[in-house]
Amino acid sequence: MMQPSSMRDKSVIVTGAGGGLGRATAEALTRLDANLLLVDIDADALAETKSLLASSQLSTFTLVQDLSSQSDCYAVIDYALKQFGGIHALCNIAAVLFPANVSDFTSQQWESTLAVNLSAPFYLIQRALPALEESQGSVVNVTSCAAHLGQPYIGAYSATKAGLTQLTKSLAMEYMNRKVRFNVVAPGGMATSITHAMRNIKSPDPQLLGRMAPLRGMVEIEEVAHTVAYLATPAASSFHGAVINIDQGITLG
Ligand SMILES: NC(=O)c1ccc[n+]([C@@H]2O[C@H](COP(=O)([O-])OP(=O)(O)OC[C@H]3O[C@@H](n4cnc5c(N)ncnc54)[C@H](O)[C@@H]3O)[C@@H](O)[C@H]2O)c1
Repeated sequence: MMQPSSMRDKSVIVTGAGGGLGRATAEALTRLDANLLLVDIDADALAETKSLLASSQLSTFTLVQDLSSQSDCYAVIDYALKQFGGIHALCNIAAVLFPANVSDFTSQQWESTLAVNLSAPFYLIQRALPALEESQGSVVNVTSCAAHLGQPYIGAYSATKAGLTQLTKSLAMEYMNRKVRFNVVAPGGMATSITHAMRNIKSPDPQLLGRMAPLRGMVEIEEVAHTVAYLATPAASSFHGAVINIDQGITLG
């Protein structure tokens, strides 16, 4: 990966910043001198992220918001514009995962998965596009190796991640002759809280679970965060419509 460029005087929105990859991305962007708007539904986790960045002299704002609603997504962009006057990058990292047998999956879990993982990036991007076009900015959508594999017990999650991949490619084509860049980072398994939910599956088939295990181990969160941050910077000017797998080879089959 090439070196990212400085984000001094540039503003970036990071969703899911209370958690593993979102927090690590906030740290990576802080090292690049970005001004940040950190968004999460979990107020305590968000406050912890902010305290970890506290030694920084930069403008870092936090916003507790439930991204499963369109109006909250629009409010995030409006808040960023009010604080910064512009937006240079949007990193869509927030997601939910409810692993379960399909027969146990509730309609509430289905709707929530679609809303947070797929609709929220769409509404955030839609509202941010005029500002991103003005700044010649960048959208980085975080998907998953699950977008490319048939993995058991996570059908709704996989469907949203595949959908977000195609949304990104479609927008990249739509904006081919305009100045906003759209890219995807698709990680494999990282040691964060989202993976703990896998323990909740009732009587999983161990043979099928074994197929989800990475042969080369877990993916380093910081490597993924560095890549997301790089794509957010103007240094990644030729990356447009890319899907970057960082997955220890799990998508090889
Ligand atoms: N950890 C992995 O193994 C793995 C693998 C592939 C892809 N990913 C992707 O990486 C990204 C980051 O996940 P993570 O591993 O850091 O997990 P995480 O659970 O630590 O982070 C997800 C964050 O999203 C926030 N969030 C959930 N619902 C929200 C809502 N309605 N509104 C606002 N914020 C909300 C959570 O509070 C949490 O802080 C996700 O897009 C995930 O799908 C993770």
